[in-house]
Amino acid sequence: VEQAVGTAIGAVLPARRDADPLIRRSDRPGVDVQSNVALSLAGAAGRPPAQLAGQLADQLTAAPGAGPAAGTGPATALPAAVSVAGPGFLNVTFTDAALWGQVAARLADDRLGVDTPQAGVRTVVDYSSVNVAKQLHVGHLRSTVIGDALVRVLGFLGAEVIRENHLGDWGTQFGMLIQYLVEHPEARWQHDRLAAGTTAVAALDELYRAARAAFDADPAFAGRARKRVVALQSGDPDTLAAWREIVAESQHAFQQVYDRLGVLLTEADAAGESRYNDALPGVVDELVRQGIAVPSAGALCVFDPAFTGRDGAPVPLIVRKSDGGFGYAATDLATVRDRVGRERADRMLYVVDARQALHFRQVFAAARRAGWLPGTVDVEHVAFGAVLGADGRPYRTRDGGTALLSDLLDAAVTSARRVVRDKNPTMPDADADRIAELCGIAAVKYADLATSRQQDYRFDPDRMVAFTGNTGVYLLYAHTRVAAILRRAEPATGDGDAPPDPAVPVAPAERALILALDGFGAVVTEVGESLEPHRLCGYLYELARAFTAFYESCPVLGAAEPVRSNRLALCRLTRRTLAQGLTLLGLPAPDRL
Ligand code: ARG
Repeated sequence: VEQAVGTAIGAVLPARRDADPLIRRSDRPGVDVQSNVALSLAGAAGRPPAQLAGQLADQLTAAPGAGPAAGTGPATALPAAVSVAGPGFLNVTFTDAALWGQVAARLADDRLGVDTPQAGVRTVVDYSSVNVAKQLHVGHLRSTVIGDALVRVLGFLGAEVIRENHLGDWGTQFGMLIQYLVEHPEARWQHDRLAAGTTAVAALDELYRAARAAFDADPAFAGRARKRVVALQSGDPDTLAAWREIVAESQHAFQQVYDRLGVLLTEADAAGESRYNDALPGVVDELVRQGIAVPSAGALCVFDPAFTGRDGAPVPLIVRKSDGGFGYAATDLATVRDRVGRERADRMLYVVDARQALHFRQVFAAARRAGWLPGTVDVEHVAFGAVLGADGRPYRTRDGGTALLSDLLDAAVTSARRVVRDKNPTMPDADADRIAELCGIAAVKYADLATSRQQDYRFDPDRMVAFTGNTGVYLLYAHTRVAAILRRAEPATGDGDAPPDPAVPVAPAERALILALDGFGAVVTEVGESLEPHRLCGYLYELARAFTAFYESCPVLGAAEPVRSNRLALCRLTRRTLAQGLTLLGLPAPDRL
């Protein structure tokens, strides 16, 4: 429609042939899409909008054979009724045959009509980025889940995605951890000795707490830990070996969580802070040489008048601390330089907590000044809000501590198990456990993705495992319902792939479902640009509702042919679109629950 209206504008008003045709889906009864372009161009055209709309409508409905290339019809002719309404709205209502034709085209396409607008765009996605030897907390859940959905969507749109888990795997805390292990060899984790119910992440966290306690309580130990930092930085082989072991053990533990969450990250995606160590002196020297970093109270800092604090003074970006150590900012400047220079990124995404917004703005600005970030590279801090408890306050454990990711997952699985048990008291335990795990994890991921990521979201396990409303469980369940219809129908039909018959009239609920199905490509493309997975969630929810409305008013299995076959074609396309959408969000699309 956009192309056809564009061509019609070119024919009627050649000077404005590039004007946006202003096409939108219409919510007027009996109208599929509408264009308001005549209202916006009437001034330029020097004629009333209704008259201009009438001329455009004539172009769009010119009979085949009347156009310049006789026999083929004008390029602008739409398989639709086009009318002018009100002061100059152009209303388009597709013919029933055109709607069935669109269903057939989508069914014949593996990609369901989704284009590859990101083809060849090398995109580095920095996400998850958890810290070694520490527990994963709820903020890491958001980065991991949002990052995973973006990686999947961008990849589907054709981007060359490079996943990078920017592990916090370097820093002075390792002196304390290594020294503690040297002095307490019994604290070393042993997989076979982990108490039942203890995860590897928890065991490492235990080590962290013990080392921290010793560091705070015993000045002599703190001194030895500091020496250990120096040994690590100067590459002492035993110290490095111990560091490597802690990192490997942590990665192994994180992988258990990633596998449970069903995200694509593997240990091969690790691109931790330590990777940039050797580059840091060069990064800082270059900033000093260019006059971008300057000495300030013993440290080296970048000042930029664009970033001022409340007192009006510039906020420093510290690239080297007064003790000579390099910090987080130096490492992130190195990531920018490396991702553009070595990895040839066209696009770089940092999926990190919104509270780090100033940090990233400062880092990107400094990298631009240094010439490491050309204007051709798109860089974005994909910021997200906090996870709140059901009471609207930051989500915490019962004793007020920082909530761990595993607590959150366990809470959702427990709620899901209760729902499963209520619905099916006689189900064997093993099945109930499996379904509760699947639904609980999907519910958490969906709840995280379904709210606009900039917003804080409320973690309410009972609400998120509900079978109704915009929940992950509702969508999984919708998919199983379509799958069940097809299961019952297909053996009898035999020709499960037959295209729909274009001569069958389209019922109103079918029409709404067809138009919803047709919107899939546009919404996925949109998510690739806005990096907002909640738009895909909202779309799938509306699609599932359109399917429910269709199913309630249009019997499928009991209908006579050829209506039955056409409705089954709609079921097949709905099922594939739901499944593809769920997959892009990193969610399963089970046939049964
Ligand atoms: N490890 C950091 C944290 O837990 C997040 C790192 C984000 N990525 C980056 N390139 N700075 O807060």
